[in-house]
Amino acid sequence: MSLGSLATYHPGSVVVFFSALGFLTFVIVVVKTLSVFVQTFMLKGTQLRKFGAKSGSWAVVTGASGGIGREFAIQLGKAGFNVLVASRNYHQLAETVSQINANCGTQVQTKIVIVDLSNGRDDGFTRLVDACQGMDIGILVNNAGKSHEMPSDFAETPKHEIDDIVAINISAVLRVTSIVLPGMIQRKRGLILNIGSFAGSIPSPMLATYSGSKAFLSTWSTALGEEVTRHGITVQHLNTYFVVSDMSKIRRSSALVPTPASYVRSCLSKIGLSCGAAFTGRPHTCTPFWSHAFVDWGMGVIGWKSGIIAYTHRLHRSIRARALRKKERDAKSQ
Ligand SMILES: NC(=O)c1ccc[n+]([C@@H]2O[C@H](COP(=O)([O-])OP(=O)(O)OC[C@H]3O[C@@H](n4cnc5c(N)ncnc54)[C@H](OP(=O)(O)O)[C@@H]3O)[C@@H](O)[C@H]2O)c1
Repeated sequence: MSLGSLATYHPGSVVVFFSALGFLTFVIVVVKTLSVFVQTFMLKGTQLRKFGAKSGSWAVVTGASGGIGREFAIQLGKAGFNVLVASRNYHQLAETVSQINANCGTQVQTKIVIVDLSNGRDDGFTRLVDACQGMDIGILVNNAGKSHEMPSDFAETPKHEIDDIVAINISAVLRVTSIVLPGMIQRKRGLILNIGSFAGSIPSPMLATYSGSKAFLSTWSTALGEEVTRHGITVQHLNTYFVVSDMSKIRRSSALVPTPASYVRSCLSKIGLSCGAAFTGRPHTCTPFWSHAFVDWGMGVIGWKSGIIAYTHRLHRSIRARALRKKERDAKSQ
């Protein structure tokens, strides 16, 4: 029976049907919202002890020479992991290590591996394999990442920039994980944290390659997470909005833009939960920082993806215009 004929014969039934549908939708939104609230503000995640804290296990952190990666290295050291840090810049990695030593003294061992993750043939990958040999690695943080120098249409993006983003944000993540994962499977224990971005869940015009690389990370994390759960391994894709760092070019923190220290604290306290990602239900993804969780929830409630993409496009056009003006000013003042 069509709705039209239902209305003809039982006008009250249509009203009842739509009222029930509306009520059901309301209940679902309320339950999902409560789930976001409870996970973000009340529940504690899995304890780091489960992954070998204070028992001689190592944490491997890529891109630990600054920003979010340095904070992961420092906070995992404080939590009782030995820490291996990897990236291109020796002096900045040494600074990370000296901060770990200042906090933890001789209780925590450290290792530095110099590797250029944009170059698949770099010797650093071999050094990383050698360094990880026989190590009990409890945590891998795939943090190193690269974005565009400034928003640009894909057609105008330099080829080397596209290649670097794909190599660092995708290929290197797969390669480093392949180095670490077999040992975790053998030990039936491990945590893999993949640092994603909102640009991966909302396609970002003028940052198309970065956005696509983070979408890859999100999908791959979910697939991998399902595969390895039976081996006692947790994979968590961390859906990140803005954080103060060189990459974001934001220097001052605010409610919406945490410092790396606050951001990493939220990540490490919400292992195994979804927080802001609970509204749209993305397995193995977490939006841990409270204001980022609120934005994620809001986007889920609005659900108007094409509107958000169009807004992002306008925003990136104006950021590009400002970046070009600054470049011009800098060039004139030299
Ligand atoms: N900050 C944000 O607002 C934000 C938002 C969403 C997602 N994220 C993600 O968070 C992660 C960390 O970013 P961040 O904000 O902390 O940026 P950052 O301060 O610029 O740090 C980037 C790190 O990646 C390393 N790296 C870059 N190119 C590399 C290469 N070729 N080989 C090895 N290491 C390389 C850098 O080390 P070297 O230069 O020493 O090699 C540095 O330690 C990234 O994956 C980023 O996409 C950040």
